Order: sequence, then C-alpha cells, then structure tokens
Amino acid sequence: MLPMRNHVIAGGSSGIGKALTEQLLAAGDRVHVLARSSRALEPHRNLHFMEVDFSVPSPSIQGLPDEIHGLAYCPGSIQLAPFHRMKEDAFLSDYRINVLGAVHLIQAALPALKKAGQSSVVLFSTVAVQTGMPFHASIASAKGAVEGLTRALAAEFAASGIRVNAIAPSLTQTPLAERLLNTPEKVEASNKRHPIGRVGQPDEVAALAALLLSERGSWMTGQILHIDGGMSHLRLFA
Ligand SMILES: NC(=O)c1ccc[n+]([C@@H]2O[C@H](COP(=O)([O-])OP(=O)(O)OC[C@H]3O[C@@H](n4cnc5c(N)ncnc54)[C@H](OP(=O)(O)O)[C@@H]3O)[C@@H](O)[C@H]2O)c1
Repeated sequence: MLPMRNHVIAGGSSGIGKALTEQLLAAGDRVHVLARSSRALEPHRNLHFMEVDFSVPSPSIQGLPDEIHGLAYCPGSIQLAPFHRMKEDAFLSDYRINVLGAVHLIQAALPALKKAGQSSVVLFSTVAVQTGMPFHASIASAKGAVEGLTRALAAEFAASGIRVNAIAPSLTQTPLAERLLNTPEKVEASNKRHPIGRVGQPDEVAALAALLLSERGSWMTGQILHIDGGMSHLRLFA
C-alpha cells in the first residue's frame, strides 16, 4: 500500500478550496485545512483544521505536518470598483490576502515540502490578469503578482522537487462570487459572456487543482492554467 499523501489547503472550507478538500479526502489523502473558521466543514477522519487569519501581517502558522506533498493557497478577494475611487488600502489588502498570505504559508511549509521529495504548490490567479477588465485594477494587480511569484518559485524550487503552478479561473459559483451571481439576471448575463455559455462550478476548478497536486501532474511546473469557459482565448462570431 502507498503511504498516505498529506495536503495543506489554505481556504479549504469554502468554494473551490472546499471542493478540492472533498476530492482529496475522497481519493484517500489526508488534508489539513487552514482558514478562519471550520463551521462549513463536515468532520472526516483524515481532515484536520487549523485556525489561521492570512489578512494580518505575519500570520501565526503552527502545527503543519512534517511532510507535505501538496499545498494549495485559496484565500482571495473580489473588490471591484472604478479606478478613481479605489483607495490605497484596497490595493494593500488585496496584496496581503492574495500574495503575502501565500508567501507566509509557503515559507512556513518549505522544509516539509522538501522533505516529501516530490511535492506541488498550487496558487490562484484570475482570468482578469491576462484579459483586461474594467474595475479590476486592484485584484488584477495582486493576482499579477501571484503569477510572477508562481514562475519565480517554480524556477527556484525546481531542483528541490517542488513544482509550483497557478490556476486562473473565470467567474465560478462560490461564496466569494455571490454578489456577482445573486440574481437570475446576473447569472444569465455572466453565462452569456463565456464562450462555453456558463460560469464555472467549484468542482471543475478543484479537479484541475487536484491533478496538479497529484503525481499525475508531475511534469508540469511554472504554468498559469486558464480554466474559464473559453473566456481568455476565444472570440465567437455573433
Ligand atoms: N470564485 C470566482 O469567481 C473566482 C474567480 C477568479 C479567481 N478566483 C480565486 O480562486 C480562489 C478561491 O476562491 P473561492 O471563490 O473558492 O473563494 P471563497 O469561496 O471565498 O473561499 C475562500 C476560502 O479562503 C478562506 N479565507 C478567506 N479569507 C481568509 C483569511 N483572511 N484567512 C484565512 N482564510 C481565509 C475562507 O475561509 P474563512 O472565511 O473561514 O477564513 C474560505 O475557506 C481565490 O484566490 C480567488 O481569488 C475565484
């Protein structure tokens, strides 16, 4: 029997991270979820919860396992506003939760990621980095930094057996996107903007993250993977 794989999923209690946690548990892996609250998690013998708030400077991250095969950092934000109204604080808080939180977690996990021999880190960007969208100045800036971090760490860690990739989804039906999808009219308008004709579901994005965390993704590193119903690359004739 193969030894059990350990995963650390920051933000594994909601949306894409929760779907990822459920898929990993179903595959027989052990999952350590880091978030502010465990309320939305169903107990499971291979599920461990650690309370961490990544929105504060130098978050306290303790109790990580000695060996980590997969790490995903899912906390994120959607603060959309016209550029002239965006305050410095909005840019700083987006940077803190999307970029610095991941930096702190990866630094805390580095010895355990190395100890695993072969390991994988998955970060989250957004379709709005490669495709310009109005009102996305702050989040696109922060996620652009996530994409730079992904490639830099993939290069730095390649010789240590640690792969680093990022997923750039378009609008996905999760609590984070609730305000953008809370009426049938908004859902219909968002569906129409996607060449495939609908927004994403958390399970679809989580399946890609699970692949990257597994040994099936073992030759992929330094990539930004676009999972977005065709939004970033396709133009349909009217
Ligand atoms: N949904 C979309 O349309 C969409 C589109 C593009 C990119 N993305 C990206 O995909 C990733 C996952 O998004 P999602 O929609 O699944 O988000 P979500 O449903 O809001 O889930 C976020 C998770 O992160 C945790 N979290 C949030 N703030 C935290 C903090 N300060 N400290 C610790 N944990 C925190 C939450 O738990 P607690 O609240 O209990 O802490 C929750 O488990 C994000 O990086 C997001 O930017 C999402």
